[in-house]
Amino acid sequence: MSQGLTIGELADRTGLAVSAIRFYETHDIVKPLRNKGGHRRYGRPDIRRLSFVMAAQKLGFSLSEIAPHLRRLPDHKAPSKADWTRISKAFRQDIDARIAALEDLRDKLDGCIGCGCLSLKSCALYNPADVKSVEGPGPRNLKATTT
Ligand code: FES
Repeated sequence: MSQGLTIGELADRTGLAVSAIRFYETHDIVKPLRNKGGHRRYGRPDIRRLSFVMAAQKLGFSLSEIAPHLRRLPDHKAPSKADWTRISKAFRQDIDARIAALEDLRDKLDGCIGCGCLSLKSCALYNPADVKSVEGPGPRNLKATTT
């Protein structure tokens, strides 16, 4: 196969280090073909796969959460819109939960978060004598902790 991207071209376009692309290869995120000389060659859809991983990781998804979805995409063929729609549906619920936790944090950050510090006036109201500690460790008034 004389066509396809070299690992250097893929690294340039995605901004990833070559070592990172090789790492993702070991997790079957991308599966290059080999040309006659035995060199790795990547398809343009691999740019989107890696870009998806980068975006999802920025949102706090781990590779172990991302990889199973990408492994369902067809090998060596550009995934269709339907393929990506299926994946985005799987992530939508998780993303919505993260949005809700972020909004909750934004809205409650200047009030009592139920962490046990008892340092704000509102703690007397929302966490008198640290009653929240019986629910477990961490800021118990925040969705991020309780969901
Ligand atoms: S903010 Fe820490 S207990 Fe209220």
